[in-house]
Amino acid sequence: MSTILITGGGRGLGRATAEKLARAGHRVLLTARTQPKAEEAVQELRARHPQSQLEPYAVDLASLASIRRFADCLLADGVALDVLFNVAGVMQTNPQRELSADGYELTLAVNALAPFLLTRLLLPALRRSPAARVVNVSSRLHLPGSRGKPVDFDFADANLARDYNPDRAYKNSKLAILWFTFEAQRRLGSDRLTFNAVCPGFVPVTAAASSRKPFERWLLRNVLPFMPFATSVDAASSAFAFMATDPDVGQRGGRFFGEKREIAPSTDSLDAAKAAQFWALASNLTGLEP
Ligand SMILES: NC(=O)c1ccc[n+]([C@@H]2O[C@H](COP(=O)([O-])OP(=O)(O)OC[C@H]3O[C@@H](n4cnc5c(N)ncnc54)[C@H](OP(=O)(O)O)[C@@H]3O)[C@@H](O)[C@H]2O)c1
Repeated sequence: MSTILITGGGRGLGRATAEKLARAGHRVLLTARTQPKAEEAVQELRARHPQSQLEPYAVDLASLASIRRFADCLLADGVALDVLFNVAGVMQTNPQRELSADGYELTLAVNALAPFLLTRLLLPALRRSPAARVVNVSSRLHLPGSRGKPVDFDFADANLARDYNPDRAYKNSKLAILWFTFEAQRRLGSDRLTFNAVCPGFVPVTAAASSRKPFERWLLRNVLPFMPFATSVDAASSAFAFMATDPDVGQRGGRFFGEKREIAPSTDSLDAAKAAQFWALASNLTGLEP
């Protein structure tokens, strides 16, 4: 049985995936933004699965200091991590740009910089495992041509200070996490440590949490789940559990998955020069050596 760390375990797909993995007998370290949220999730899951091994942790992924404190705490405990699953993410709808505690555009901070920093800080814990994997959550929305404002990652304005749009911020962050995944595989990947990324498909029920518009929330909860292009929480969290446990996924990194199968990421995400550029940028923004 594996030791699996899941971020964003307080609700949504993170919580549903934590439940599946804990039910299967894995030890699950579940993080939420606050300790009460993490404990509430763990208590509810333990009530349903009394034999499960779930441990609650708090980490605010919009704060580099919080991520560092959390990583220090785990490393001090001597945990050997078999899986680090970076699930947590934000999709802003507010047309006003919001900033993280460190002054970075919030979507970039939570969806790309936080997994980057957390993963790199937890490398010693991953290296304690004989076969570890990192799984990052991206989205097909990073593909050119997806609905809304197109993806356009400008390295001179990664924080979108000049022309903020929440759609673009999300797509850019999901492209950035692919750059991180593929570059991490090139730099750090080995037969004992792999890095892959996954898109859960369109899951309207959990996506509803991000919407500020009541009618849109209603559609996401009551109409869109029945559309043929939508995926259920159960199917998406099964696909996530597959990413955490399937032997083949753990053996070969640098890949992008959809629902339990490899899919093609954008051409831009495979650009090694841009991935290296993102690595340097993210190192700089998170205070790490490149
Ligand atoms: N749903 C979809 O259709 C879809 C499609 C493609 C990709 N994805 C990706 O799949 C992942 C899970 O999505 P979901 O649908 O489950 O979304 P969700 O229900 O909105 O859950 C997002 C999770 O991220 C956590 N989070 C957000 N900001 C945080 C912060 N600053 N610190 C700590 N945790 C934070 C949330 O915690 P709080 O409860 O504290 O806010 C929540 O647990 C995300 O990366 C998302 O981008 C989703």
